[in-house]
Amino acid sequence: MSPDASVDRETVCEHAAEHNGALLGDPTQPIVYDNYMTVRALLDFLKDWIDERLDDITRGRITDPEKTIAWYWLKNAGDGTHFAKKDVVFECFHNFVALSQWGNTIFGIMSRLSQDGGDSRVRAAFEKTMAGDPDAANGAPYTPLEMFVMELFRTISPNGGSVSAISDARQSGSSDNYGDSGSPAARFGLPWERSGFMVSPHTSTSFDPVHWTNPSQFDPDRYRDVPTSAQVDEAKSKQIGFAKCPFDLTTMKVSDGRNAAMANSAFGTVFGVVDGKPLPVCDYAGFAPFGFGYRRCPGEQLTINVFEDFLRKVWRDKITFHSLHLPNPRKVPIGPNAVIDDDVSFARLS
Ligand code: HEM
Repeated sequence: MSPDASVDRETVCEHAAEHNGALLGDPTQPIVYDNYMTVRALLDFLKDWIDERLDDITRGRITDPEKTIAWYWLKNAGDGTHFAKKDVVFECFHNFVALSQWGNTIFGIMSRLSQDGGDSRVRAAFEKTMAGDPDAANGAPYTPLEMFVMELFRTISPNGGSVSAISDARQSGSSDNYGDSGSPAARFGLPWERSGFMVSPHTSTSFDPVHWTNPSQFDPDRYRDVPTSAQVDEAKSKQIGFAKCPFDLTTMKVSDGRNAAMANSAFGTVFGVVDGKPLPVCDYAGFAPFGFGYRRCPGEQLTINVFEDFLRKVWRDKITFHSLHLPNPRKVPIGPNAVIDDDVSFARLS
């Protein structure tokens, strides 16, 4: 999720129709409107609360502060020129929203693994993955379980698309100012001048036959042959036909005590380098559930790891999912763009 992320309406509608009637976050529906208004009303309180918790981390008022993500941001912010405290506050706030997509994803996984009405191809691929050696990469960039999770993300695509401003939206007069409460129209007067926008349609990109010979097939093995970010370098850039990398290749060493750095590919995708070894990020336009290029989701690897754990638990405890077939299921908002029927249950066999 990016602050200015919005949803490719068409893609999400199609997608939603596929899964137990999940509804798009239509603001004319009272449940969507009421929840948006509640979040807006609580926003200032939440920002103050986060600000105080960051002080707790900085002043050592909590135990093990290095177990929080924010500790790493504060440590690496330097003098704050590029990442001031208010940016860290905003980032924490944003990530509360981002985390809600885990709910959206769990719903998508439960729906597919469901014994009744799920997708038998996904269930078969899950069994094949877990019955083999799910965590052995055997020299490939990703383990079988990682590829299974990546394929779930490609096909569920919890975030259908995003919109990015083409010029820096923080300049006054060009757009909204990082969540300021006054509307840009009111602050800058009419006519409402805005910069150009670029849309990244994640779901349709991931399903485009330009990228895959079998886009609609559930096939975790597809990630064996696509480039990782570290491979999308100067040479790859030339091969594509660019005179130079569209994004200069840079590396930023972290200053939090780890031997790690953040590097970027020619497409702008950021990836970690730990003890000199690049961590693999699938840098192929056919895999876009976390976006593509320089705005790509920095929470991708964390999220993939979390869902690997989730699926290990499902397998180990023999958890199965079922539809309750309720005549009038309650509607539950599970993310910024999804309201679902509360109609899925699980059973544990062990
Ligand atoms: C199911 C989980 C998630 C999905 C599907 C997802 C997807 C996305 C997508 C599609 C974008 C926009 C990329 C673009 O504009 O090209 C994005 C941006 C971002 N995500 Fe995630 N995300 C998830 C979880 C998270 C988590 C857990 C965090 C942090 C803890 C996070 C942090 C961010 C940030 C900070 C950005 C903005 C990057 C930027 O604009 O430079 N995301 N995410």
